[in-house]
Amino acid sequence: MALRCQIFRDTVPKIQKHPRKCKHKKKDIILDAGCGTGFFCKILSEKAKFVIGIDGSKNMLQIAKKRLSGSINAQLILADVDYLPFLSQKFTKVFSVTLLQNVPVPQKSLKEIFRVCKKNSLVVVSALKKKINLMELYQMLTEFSDAIQLFENQEDVIGFCSVE
Ligand SMILES: C[S@@+](CC[C@H](N)C(=O)[O-])C[C@H]1O[C@@H](n2cnc3c(N)ncnc32)[C@H](O)[C@@H]1O
Repeated sequence: MALRCQIFRDTVPKIQKHPRKCKHKKKDIILDAGCGTGFFCKILSEKAKFVIGIDGSKNMLQIAKKRLSGSINAQLILADVDYLPFLSQKFTKVFSVTLLQNVPVPQKSLKEIFRVCKKNSLVVVSALKKKINLMELYQMLTEFSDAIQLFENQEDVIGFCSVE
């Protein structure tokens, strides 16, 4: 199948700027990989059926736990993105916001992220551009998706990928 890729410069996609406006379905089961203090988990939980945030740092998760204390459809798990504790094809969306530049082998993390996605799902990954540039992100993502939208702003590179 032909690769479909669009590049947008100096624009910020909605999940970065206005996460509430990003289209979600009530039946979405979302993974936030590298959720940190749970900022995105909280917002996503308002729109989705269930959100799971995973992070490798206990300290981050403690803050996230407080933030999500009133959210009955969100769960936090201490886990390494390279060894996700989930069966394959379980999530309708996976977000991973500024995690990729922190892991030793981004391709390995991406392989795990895409493994847990259902067919016809969406994967959104961003990285700090000073560590991973647009071309590098593009090359990594083409291994896993045929339909990619890439965004670049002053600090981040962001990929929206359809999983078919
Ligand atoms: C820059 S923070 C971003 C946090 C959050 N996504 C946000 O945008 O607010 C990166 C997060 O990735 C987590 N992290 C780094 N390596 C990880 C790994 N191998 N597995 C899981 N989480 C990891 C860190 O603990 C940190 O919370």
